[in-house]
Amino acid sequence: MATLSTLMHLECSMCTKSFDAKQLINMCPTCQSPLFARYNLEKAKETMTPKALKERTHNTGSLWRYEEVLPIQQKDYMLSLGEGWTMLHHAKRLGDHIGCPNTFIKDEGTHNATGSFKARGLSVAVSRAYELGAKALSVPSAGNAAGATAAYAAAAGLQAHVYMPQDVPLVFRVECEQLGAHVTLVDGLINDCGQRAKRDAEKSSIQRFDLSTLKEPYRLEGKKTMGYELAEQLDWKLPDVIIYPTGGGTGLVGMWKAFSEMKQMGLLDGKRPRMVSVQSTGCAPIIRAFQEGKKHAEPWENAKTCADGLRVPVAVGDFLILDALRESGGTAVAVDDSEMFKYTKIMGSHTGIFPAPEGAACLAAQIKLLKSGWIKSDETVVLFNTGTGLKYFNIYTTM
Ligand SMILES: Cc1ncc(COP(=O)(O)O)c(C=O)c1O
Repeated sequence: MATLSTLMHLECSMCTKSFDAKQLINMCPTCQSPLFARYNLEKAKETMTPKALKERTHNTGSLWRYEEVLPIQQKDYMLSLGEGWTMLHHAKRLGDHIGCPNTFIKDEGTHNATGSFKARGLSVAVSRAYELGAKALSVPSAGNAAGATAAYAAAAGLQAHVYMPQDVPLVFRVECEQLGAHVTLVDGLINDCGQRAKRDAEKSSIQRFDLSTLKEPYRLEGKKTMGYELAEQLDWKLPDVIIYPTGGGTGLVGMWKAFSEMKQMGLLDGKRPRMVSVQSTGCAPIIRAFQEGKKHAEPWENAKTCADGLRVPVAVGDFLILDALRESGGTAVAVDDSEMFKYTKIMGSHTGIFPAPEGAACLAAQIKLLKSGWIKSDETVVLFNTGTGLKYFNIYTTM
């Protein structure tokens, strides 16, 4: 059965050239930049109305409720393990404690299969690769994307080859192995994993489709649903500020794309949020480039942080992250690992949510921005807890 997808074509985010979306493709062949999926939004808005969405009980519990603006053409290829449509908590006790009562937490650590928001991007990207005939997939990952790739590949019956840094927490390795993926540990960081995955793919007898973030068009589409959900859960009014822990930046760029699509569909009026990128002081290429007014970020040397998802020294979509921060009137903040530990407990003990260090980093950034007056106490702020703290328990036991 056909979906309501209104996918039209792919467009290069840099040179704007168009490409046929009915092919397995990675980046723009001309300028090697990320490709964006483009939809017929005039058509999408006829069926994807706020009223219709309320009545979509068949896929209320997943991101597939936004099928008009997702790429899958046939329902049989929509792989679902219950991804997205996560809780948006009004964190009242935490908000009162920090002097910002309208603090919300979008909790990606529960409900998403594999315990992190990576399930969003990979449910959509693996579904689309499956629909377009891929047989084997490969991905470099800090941990969470590997688990999500393994899960959705298993659901589809595709081969998954995942590459993670050698010192990745054991839980990620075990998860991938039990989900049937081929696991390779690499002496290096996520970019070294990407290079190894590429070399292995060249030698492989079965063609492997590369699912590296922003090097294929559809992980972005899955992650953008965080923006659609926020709008729907806040009754189509966006918050003043969104604070997002940034590695490759796919979620931030995805939400920014979602807000633009929603504007074009007439689903939103009013201002878009100020977007804030949070990174670790041990790996802060985006913060540095933002502060220096640069279009691209220089690679970060000797990247080190307990927040594995933030240990990304080079981001392919650096210019897209920086553009979104600047266009939104946002900012970029670095926090150190000790602050992440401190604010994990503050968030946990005031909300009942055990965040990943990446989620705690958002709270640490909010405190800094409240102190400097950049965030006013009466503003509405959404923090992204991108994963469950349970996967990181070893960092708390070794402290
Ligand atoms: C828990 C967690 N938070 C944040 C990130 C960074 O996400 P993005 O690549 O969208 O910037 C990652 C990436 O691995 C992650 O696993």
